Amino acid sequence: MAEQTAPRVDVDDLGQYVGKPVQVWGWLFNSRSSGRIVFLLVRDGTGLVQAVVSQRDVEGRVWDQARRLTQESSLKVTGTVRADERAPGGFELLVQDLELVHLAVDYPITPKEHGVDFLLDHRHLWLRSRRQHAILRIRSTLVGAVREFFDREGFVLVDAPILTPAAVEGTTTLFRTDYFGTPAYLSQSGQLYMEAAAMAFGRAYCFGPTFRAEHSKTRRHLMEFWMVEPEMAWAGLDDICRLAEGLVSHVVGRVLERHRPELALLERDTAPLERVRPPFPRVTYDEAIEILRKNGAAVEWGADFGGDEETILSNAFDRPVFVTHYPAHIKAFYMKPAPDRPEVVLGADLLAPEGYGEIIGGGQRIDDLELLMRRIEEHHLPKEAYEWYLDLRRYGSVPHGGFGMGIERVLAWICGLPHVRETIPFPRTLYRLYP
Ligand code: 4AD
Ligand code: MG
Repeated sequence: MAEQTAPRVDVDDLGQYVGKPVQVWGWLFNSRSSGRIVFLLVRDGTGLVQAVVSQRDVEGRVWDQARRLTQESSLKVTGTVRADERAPGGFELLVQDLELVHLAVDYPITPKEHGVDFLLDHRHLWLRSRRQHAILRIRSTLVGAVREFFDREGFVLVDAPILTPAAVEGTTTLFRTDYFGTPAYLSQSGQLYMEAAAMAFGRAYCFGPTFRAEHSKTRRHLMEFWMVEPEMAWAGLDDICRLAEGLVSHVVGRVLERHRPELALLERDTAPLERVRPPFPRVTYDEAIEILRKNGAAVEWGADFGGDEETILSNAFDRPVFVTHYPAHIKAFYMKPAPDRPEVVLGADLLAPEGYGEIIGGGQRIDDLELLMRRIEEHHLPKEAYEWYLDLRRYGSVPHGGFGMGIERVLAWICGLPHVRETIPFPRTLYRLYP
């Protein structure tokens, strides 16, 4: 019988089996019937296929089963593959047999509209939807493309620790935990460790989860997000910007190459993504202030840019734009002052277009021991915790720098999503730690 010999095939690969019997193991996405035919839309994780059950062609048991199947029940379908341009994915199955594996009762996410809180409460099931599926597949490619880029550019992967003794990006957003009686913090950034790695390997990067106790409930903030952080010895601001534009262009290119169907499902206009090619425009903080004022924003020199300012700036360019030379006092303690103008630093943020705002932050680091010690004091940071970091300026200090790129913000921009919450499988936001 066909069902004993038919191979199990991924929906993705059905094209290689036209005219042949196969089995698809999956879940019922949706179904509808019309008289003597039941159309089962089956998803298996790789794709969706329509399985057509015709009362005329199957045993009574199969027919009854097909009509009783509920949304998200798991099943094994045996049928013959037929090419059909109108079918989702381009192929359909003419069903011979059907095995119910588990009957799902009252699946909570129905094809009707649900509120976002309800969906987030059911995130573990929401992942099965087409839209979430598309976003997370693109995420997977994005992560792979990041690694591919750094491999190609000769960077060594050096994993940074998650439990750390000290702050990198300010003490107000630390998640504190207890480390056998001493305080420890979840990593805000692997940067300081990458500086050590750069002095050992020349070029290094880390890529992992980072944590910020951000008391902000914006569409750009997560408490836990993934950041890739390259660091280079013998590098200045220009090298850092060139690396960043190379990375962003590479990952956008890979997504365009591999995910046209997903981008279409997300209704993403890809024209702005096609324009993402180096070199990216660069403006200084001073020039950015001018642009903001011309666009009616009342900003004083010295103020940090919030989401609104970033949106205006990123809307002023048709591709990602670097903003460089920020005032020193609004940036982190490790940023190197510009030699000719010490009130600004050799830092760069990359703002994504279409109003998305900052996706990358980085720059050149202080390489002078005295100055770094002074900054640690000025920022009221505990010097003991940074002794090892100071060592990097004691033993063969060189100009160096790098940046951090937040995967979720990049993904939100690439996918054209209004909020970062759908860009990570299980988002951690101000009011959410479940599921
Ligand atoms: O600008 P940030 O804070 O820079 C650093 O952490 C540096 N130590 C990185 C480095 O130079 N190695 O963060 C870098 C990027 C941001 O541009 C943004 O993309 C992302 O990390 N990011 C967040 N993404 C989501 N939610 C948050 N709360 C984020 N905070 C930063
Ligand atoms: Mg930043």
